[in-house]
Amino acid sequence: MCGIIGYTGERSAGPLIMEALRRLEYRGYDSTGLALFDHGSSFFVARAAGKIDQLASRVEGRLPAAAAGIGHTRWATHGAATDANAHPHLDPSGRVAIVHNGIVENYEELRTALLARGRHFASDTDTEVLAHLIADALEAGRDLPAAVRDAVARTTGAYALVAIDRDEPGRLVAVRVGNAGGIVVGRGEREHFVASDLAALLPHTREVAFLEPGELADVRAAAASFCTLAGEPLDRPFEAQTLDPIAAVRGRYKHFMLKEIWEQPDGLLDAVRGRYLLAPAHVALEGFPFDAERVRQFTRVVLIGMGTSWHAAMVGRHYIERLARIPAEVDNAAEFGYRRAILDEHTLVISVSQSGETVDLLAAMEVARRAGCAQLTVCNTPGAQTTRVADGTIYMRMGPEIAVASTKCFTGAMVALHAIALHLGRARGTLDPAEAEAQVAGALHLPAAVGEALLLAPAIEQLAKRYAAYENFLFLGRGLSFPLALEGALKLKEVSYLHAEGYAAGEMKHGPIALIDERMPTVALAPSDELRDKMRSNIQQLKARRGRVVAIVSAGDASLSALADDMLTLPDTDQLLVPFVAAVVMQLLAYYVALERGCDVDQPRNLAKTVTVE
Ligand code: AGP
Repeated sequence: MCGIIGYTGERSAGPLIMEALRRLEYRGYDSTGLALFDHGSSFFVARAAGKIDQLASRVEGRLPAAAAGIGHTRWATHGAATDANAHPHLDPSGRVAIVHNGIVENYEELRTALLARGRHFASDTDTEVLAHLIADALEAGRDLPAAVRDAVARTTGAYALVAIDRDEPGRLVAVRVGNAGGIVVGRGEREHFVASDLAALLPHTREVAFLEPGELADVRAAAASFCTLAGEPLDRPFEAQTLDPIAAVRGRYKHFMLKEIWEQPDGLLDAVRGRYLLAPAHVALEGFPFDAERVRQFTRVVLIGMGTSWHAAMVGRHYIERLARIPAEVDNAAEFGYRRAILDEHTLVISVSQSGETVDLLAAMEVARRAGCAQLTVCNTPGAQTTRVADGTIYMRMGPEIAVASTKCFTGAMVALHAIALHLGRARGTLDPAEAEAQVAGALHLPAAVGEALLLAPAIEQLAKRYAAYENFLFLGRGLSFPLALEGALKLKEVSYLHAEGYAAGEMKHGPIALIDERMPTVALAPSDELRDKMRSNIQQLKARRGRVVAIVSAGDASLSALADDMLTLPDTDQLLVPFVAAVVMQLLAYYVALERGCDVDQPRNLAKTVTVE
């Protein structure tokens, strides 16, 4: 959840770290801070609760000409968002400064033992105990890498950490413990970086090396070396990354969220190009690791994800059962990890994650690995942890997604799952050629269809003005539209702080209809599929109880215009692909309602882009 940056080289570390913190702010923005090697015998340390601008105003004109340092953006786990709890944290003597992402689970026990030895703590965080432990090991004569390893050995939990020692200017030691947030090391000309993710490094270098869990990097300006937590040397090659640094900036858009909604046609073009092919209709799925023989051995598919990725997995389930005819189920990744599922080598587990670092998902993948399942992962982030755990990766290819609210990676995940379903169906011989033709043609048309859906933006902006004053919303859908109802509700609640619930429309009479009156509007997804008339009945029941209804319908369907209070018409697509154009409507509705309510769209309160703590 937190953002970490470290620099050591010939340039001035202060401005570099401040600029990187701005790129990392989407990972957490409860507080920020930095520590720089000053030429004296102490660190220059500055910390501030709130966003990066608070820190910037404190260091304006005061940054020393340091050649190395560390920085941090915080999403609070232990201790409120205050100056005192902001990272970096130091030991009492001021010799060690550290930044940390994740949780030290046994910190209270360690803190109690240190207090009993007369130590004092300046913060309420779990992080601070690590500064004490590292300083103690340094005082006992260990060098910085060994001191960090000793400290880590006394902890339990999952985290990433970067430590610096005042007596060794220019040396950074980074470590990754368990499946918490990643650490990536960047190599430049006579300079090196460490960061929690690629976005912070892209303007400076694309030569990077990723730390695996249980690994340590010893980094100086001229070189970096790697070892295990046991101290065994590791050969960790630097790889060239292709991510486009320009794509990670906002450009002419007011918000990253709006930019990423509008990037979907281009992103989907990248996602389908060279992957969906005609004559004969099929998909070329690079990264798919199983041959036809192995595919035919799969007896069931389990799809797992969290949040928006979970909703995409729910759509993917429909695709796999309809196109590949394999029994498929979907689980919230956290719940999957708890339920002692019956798994074996004939189960294909497909994980979905934009970041590839979500801790609940990584834990669920470990459960699947232990059970011997085949694993495929859908991810948008090259080199992310999920891509190193699964047998193969199908990349979303949607470009960096910065806004906390996931939009383009929802459609990116769905199209990857659609391609996987087609590939599985073809390998199993369950895919009718005419169906394959229709689905490939439909997928190749998606960039245009989603582009057409974006033309609804002005109408949705006006609709949002009429509905932004409501405090509660219901989203209803059936079949393929049920996950869209869940996603529409999630988008709205996370960026506008409104209470919104997504429901299977068939559930209405089983309780939720008690909520309906003139204060509870409903967004009803009613595309022209075999369930449309049932949705019509739902809408009639809502209207009979004075509920306001926004109906989302298919092109050419005017049958609900007299019944619904407002109606949005989707562009024409194959029935299986309606979720893509409906997603755009859900995303734009949430965006414009949040804007109308003056919310911080890109950095909603209490949230962070990647959930690396359970
Ligand atoms: C979606 O808008 C949310 N930000 C959140 O639910 C997110 O989808 C979830 O945390 C999963 O993230 P992932 O795709 O990176 O695993």
